Amino acid sequence: MKERHSDHDSPDRGEPSASFLDRDLKERALGIIRAVQSPETDLPTLPEVAVEISRLTHSETSSASDLERLIVTDQALTTKVLSVANSAYYGRRETVDTIRQAVVLIGFSAVQDLVLGVSVMGLFDSTLQVPGITMKGLWAHSIGVAAAAAALAKIAPWAVASDRAFVAGLLHDIGKPLLLTLFPDYFAEAAAYAHEKRVPFLEAERNTIMVTHDVLGDTFARASFFPPRLLAGIGGHHEPDLKAEPPGMDLIVHVSDYLVVRGDQVGGDELPPPPLLPGAMARLGISVDRAAEAVGASLTDTNSIIDTLL
Ligand SMILES: [Fe+2]
Ligand SMILES: [Fe+2]
Repeated sequence: MKERHSDHDSPDRGEPSASFLDRDLKERALGIIRAVQSPETDLPTLPEVAVEISRLTHSETSSASDLERLIVTDQALTTKVLSVANSAYYGRRETVDTIRQAVVLIGFSAVQDLVLGVSVMGLFDSTLQVPGITMKGLWAHSIGVAAAAAALAKIAPWAVASDRAFVAGLLHDIGKPLLLTLFPDYFAEAAAYAHEKRVPFLEAERNTIMVTHDVLGDTFARASFFPPRLLAGIGGHHEPDLKAEPPGMDLIVHVSDYLVVRGDQVGGDELPPPPLLPGAMARLGISVDRAAEAVGASLTDTNSIIDTLL
């Protein structure tokens, strides 16, 4: 890291050398990652239903009725899942009234993903905030990216399920609520830096705490046994693999994230968008104008989802 800032210096330490600061910051970054990995940490843990759902995704013998039996025990979760399944993003003409119908109409793994996504959102205290960034704003942004990712998946020139893209978008920034919950002071430090310097939050994380939310999110998702199909959109959303064939969910989420923040349409913390990787649009195979139009249209319905899920 080239840039260092004196706000890390403790007053009683005098003028520490660059290498001392470097070590200090690296230790802190490692401490954050270890905390997310450690079973000792008081991490938000997935509710029993979501743990069971995760387990089902790793089982080859699980069935739709296993899934239904698990979900219907949680009425609030059922209501949320059904209302998202009935939203424009899932693009069904028929109304889905039961989890069983959802499994039939949108598919077993899509319902599993959606239940996991909605459960994960419920882990975090929605009233948490630091100056300039609120937990609700973080989730509103993620719902916007979910809608945008589903819209781009529908027009992508290769086969990609829009319902899976929706959940990938919903969970892409999971490292942020995690950081805000576990290390609110560090989160506040990164937020203050981002607002003061007018830089993307990602850059602020690199320059303050030296660990970024994509890495934290990936660590958390793996530690929580998320299905492998959901990992790329979390760990890779700021540096998608442009050589993957066909392109992965990391690319869809990367472009969605950029377009949603650039458009400043939902969850705006008024920070600049994270950088769009050169070549990302070309790899996506959709023109910027067409992508922006599809994303803009997809965001018109996000308010009802925000009301349902937050
Ligand atoms: Fe991100
Ligand atoms: Fe994001």
